[in-house]
Amino acid sequence: MADARESLHGMWSSRLAFVLAATGSAVGLGNIWRFPYVASENGGGAFVLVYLACIFMLGLPILMAEVMMGRRGRRSPINTLRELARESKASAKWQIIGWSGVTAGLLILSFYSVIAGWTLSYTWTYLRELVIPAVEFGSPDAVFGALTSSFGMLVFWHSLFMLMTLVVVSAGVEKGLERAVRFLMPTLFVLLLLLVGYGISTGYFGQAVTFLFKADFSRITPAVVVAAMGQAFFTLSLGMGSIMAYGAYLPSDASVGRTGAMVAVSDTFVAVVAGLAIFPIAFAHGLDPEGGGPGFIFTTLPHAFAAMNFGTLYAIAFFSLLSVAAWTSSISLMEPIVAYMVESWNVTRRTAAWMVGGLAWFIGLGSALSFNHWQDITLFGRTFFDHTNFISSDLLLPAGGMMIAVFAGWIMPRADSREEMSALADWQYQLWLGLVRYVAPVLVFVVLLSVSGAFDFLTAHV
Ligand code: TRP
Repeated sequence: MADARESLHGMWSSRLAFVLAATGSAVGLGNIWRFPYVASENGGGAFVLVYLACIFMLGLPILMAEVMMGRRGRRSPINTLRELARESKASAKWQIIGWSGVTAGLLILSFYSVIAGWTLSYTWTYLRELVIPAVEFGSPDAVFGALTSSFGMLVFWHSLFMLMTLVVVSAGVEKGLERAVRFLMPTLFVLLLLLVGYGISTGYFGQAVTFLFKADFSRITPAVVVAAMGQAFFTLSLGMGSIMAYGAYLPSDASVGRTGAMVAVSDTFVAVVAGLAIFPIAFAHGLDPEGGGPGFIFTTLPHAFAAMNFGTLYAIAFFSLLSVAAWTSSISLMEPIVAYMVESWNVTRRTAAWMVGGLAWFIGLGSALSFNHWQDITLFGRTFFDHTNFISSDLLLPAGGMMIAVFAGWIMPRADSREEMSALADWQYQLWLGLVRYVAPVLVFVVLLSVSGAFDFLTAHV
């Protein structure tokens, strides 16, 4: 490559384009579907407090490390790591970070597309109800059951979503990714504000605020900390190279610290606002906010939509919002892998996108089957869907994040990381360095331990 200041794949046209794209990656099913129910299951306020601490002590430093490394390498995560390892006179084995990211990305994309398919299906169902008044949504549990028990329907929506994703990725950085997020992110923002407006009008807004922000410190347990950390990772798209790949297209004069902080703050803002939109609705309709579970928005919120004036319109807004958010996240799951193939396999972006999409689609069939024909085929009590979810989100992401923190903090010469982050004040750089060197690796190690079950033993004896 002739000029290391430009990536082979093109560049974001501005710093704002990067912030939109990275925020698009971060904001997804994790914020709007996962955050509310995980927060509710972990006691609301106590969880939110720890989650916020994790975002800024663990998430933001690793996010900055990914942007910094991506921009310095200007390639896909795998080749960026090879390049940076060479520059740092370290072992080429550090490329493992890139490979673990590719594996995690394929697995996450495979089930993410299945769940995003549910949101597409719900949008469609409500649209039909709007257009054909005789068609009614029906009982939420029945609708959810009918969808998930039909392998054919799941595959149809999964295929459609995967197609939407690969069309954007094959169009490239400026014509695909950037154009999509420029239009989709403001749309998402407007839809979200609309829903908060309804939340306020229910009269239960104050109750939702109390639930989310009144920290009951006695409820902060190790399990809550672990859940908060895992959520911080997933929601910021950390540990697999999405952000690193996007960083490769960031202009050299943009500040890593400022753009990184903007992404972290926007993502947190959306999660909190989504909570403020969803909990008042739950309270207003007498739904148990602590008993949501993963089916929360699919089986519970429709009860609320059915009872509201203009509920169908709100439902369409809500589920199209979620589809859009999932879409801008899934393109970031595909991009690092496609970029690697374009660099190293001498294929076109289009071919690479179809290959990655095809493979992820195929693996996703296993997840689609997990809700019907394979429901009872389990290993260690987990379905195929549970395994892909667990291996990628709970194992590969924390491991990747920890390696990224170690590489950025211990392997890269300080002069290099300092050069990429020259806009930071000295104390800010020192703070970042301390966080990636000591705090992040230790905290993530604790998450990995807890995942392995060692924590259950500890907590059982405290
Ligand atoms: N952050 C996205 C969400 O909250 C999902 C996502 C996109 C992701 N890219 C990622 C998660 C990379 C982990 C790693 O829905």
